Amino acid sequence: MSESKVTAGTFTAAERENAPRAKIAAEGPKGHPIMGVLPELRTTPLKFLEKVASYGDIVPMRILMTTAYLLNHPAHVEHVLQKNYRNYRKTPMVGKLKPFMGEGLLVSEGELWTRQRKLIQPSFLKERVDALAGRMTDVIQTHLKPWETRAQTGEPFNLSWDISALTLEIAFQTMFDTGLGADAQGFKEAMVIAHDVTADRVWNLTTITEKIPTKRNRQDNEAIAYLRGVCTRIIAERRASSRRSDDLLSILMDARDADTNEVMSEQQLRDEVMTLMIAGHDTTATMVAWALVMLKQQPAFLEKLRDEVDEVLAGRIPEAGDMKTLDFTKRVVQEVARLRPSIWWFARVAINDDNIAGQPIKAGTTVFISQYLIHTHPHVWDDPEKFDPDRFLPENTAGRSKFAYFPFGAGPRICVGGGFAMMEMVFALSMILRRYDLEVTSDQEPAFGNLVTLRPHEDIWARVKPRLRH
Ligand code: HEM
Repeated sequence: MSESKVTAGTFTAAERENAPRAKIAAEGPKGHPIMGVLPELRTTPLKFLEKVASYGDIVPMRILMTTAYLLNHPAHVEHVLQKNYRNYRKTPMVGKLKPFMGEGLLVSEGELWTRQRKLIQPSFLKERVDALAGRMTDVIQTHLKPWETRAQTGEPFNLSWDISALTLEIAFQTMFDTGLGADAQGFKEAMVIAHDVTADRVWNLTTITEKIPTKRNRQDNEAIAYLRGVCTRIIAERRASSRRSDDLLSILMDARDADTNEVMSEQQLRDEVMTLMIAGHDTTATMVAWALVMLKQQPAFLEKLRDEVDEVLAGRIPEAGDMKTLDFTKRVVQEVARLRPSIWWFARVAINDDNIAGQPIKAGTTVFISQYLIHTHPHVWDDPEKFDPDRFLPENTAGRSKFAYFPFGAGPRICVGGGFAMMEMVFALSMILRRYDLEVTSDQEPAFGNLVTLRPHEDIWARVKPRLRH
C-alpha cells in the first residue's frame, strides 16, 4: 500500500514541495468525525485540497460515510479523462448547474451527450471560430471607448466587473449577432447571481434547502428565469424572422444529426445556448483579469508582449491570422492558464470497479482532479510558482505529459470552446495593453475566492493611464 505516510497539517507551497509524498497515501486529513472533510471542502476548497495533495498522488478523503480520492498525477488524469473515460461520469454536483443549463453539453451524459457533442463541436472548428474574429474585435473596440475617458481622469474602476462585462458582450454578440442592449444590466446581474448560486449550492448534498422559498432562493430563481427568458425570446424571434447570420445561434439551429437528419429540439437548443454563454463567459473573464494583474507584476514580460503586439499589428486591429504570429502573447495566456486555471478542479464518479495505479476504486467512488494542483505540482514542473511563458516554447514542452497541463480539460469531454477562448483572451490582452498602462489599486496579490471559477476573493480595482512608449 502506501510508500510513506505524512501527518496532517496546513501546507504552504514550499512545504508541499518538501513533503514526503506517497504515491498512494494510506490516509488523508482526518476531518470532522461525522462530516469528514466536507466542511473544509465547502469553506476553503483550494487551501484544503493543497493540504490533501501534500499527502501524496492518490489520497483518500472521507466525505460523510464514503471515501473519495484526490488524484494528483498526470497519469491518473489520463486514466480518468482519456484511457478509461467510459467508466467515469460527472458527479451529482454538476446537477447544480441544471437550473441554468438544463441538459446542455456540460452536464449531459451518455447518448444525449454523444449526440449533442457531434452537433455542437463543428460550430467550434477553427474556421468557424476564425470567422467570429471580427465580431470579437468590434466588441472589444467598442468596450474600450470609455477607457479613453478613464485614462484621462485616472478614476479607479472595477476591473473584474468591466472585463466580465466585456466577455459577456462577446459571448452575446457571437451567439446572437446582437448586443445586450436594454438587457445589459439585468443580464450581467443575473449572471453574477447564477455564478454565486452555483458556488453556494455545489457542496450541498441535498436540494432540500434550495426548495425553501427564502429571499435568497427566490432571488436565485428569478435570475435563472430571467436568463432563460432572454435566451428563449431571442431564439423565438430568430425563428420567426427566418433571418440567418454567421453567428453561433444560426449554426446551432441548422446543425443536423448525421444519422437522423434531425435538428435540436427547442428546449435542447435553449439549454445549449445557456450552457455556451455561461461556460464561456466567466471562465474567460477571470483569466483576462488575472493576466492583467500578473503582467503588471512582470514588467519584462509585459514589455516583451507589447513589443510583439507593436511589431505584429503595427497599430491595426488583430485578425484571426495573427494568432500564429502573436506567439509570445499566446504563451503568456497559456502561463496564466497554468497558474490561474479558471476551472481549477472537477470530479468524476466511477461507474464500475477500477484500479488506478494500484489503488482499487470501487464503483460509485468519487475522484477529484485539480488543474491548479497538477499545474503547480512540484514534481512535474520546475519552480512551479514562477511565472514563465517560455515553459510553452516547443523545445520546453517536448517530453512533458499532455495531462500535466489541461486548463480546458482533456479527453473526449475537453472544452469545446478552447480555441474560441484563446483567441478572445489574446485579442483582449493585445488590444488593451498596446494602448493602456494599468495600475491595480486593490490588493496586489488578490487572494483566491471560494468560488466555482478561480476568481479573486475581492473584485480587482484598477486605474488606467495612456501607455508611455519608450
Ligand atoms: C478560459 C476559458 C475556458 C476555460 C478555462 C474552460 C474550461 C473548461 C473545462 C476544464 C472543461 C471540462 C470540464 C469537465 O471535463 O468536467 C470545459 C468544458 C466545456 N466548455 Fe469550457 N472553458 C473555457 C471557455 C469556454 C468557452 C468560450 C466555451 C463556449 C463558447 C466553453 C464551453 C464549454 C462546454 C460546452 C464544455 C462541455 C464540453 C463537454 O462536456 O463535452 N468553454 N471547459
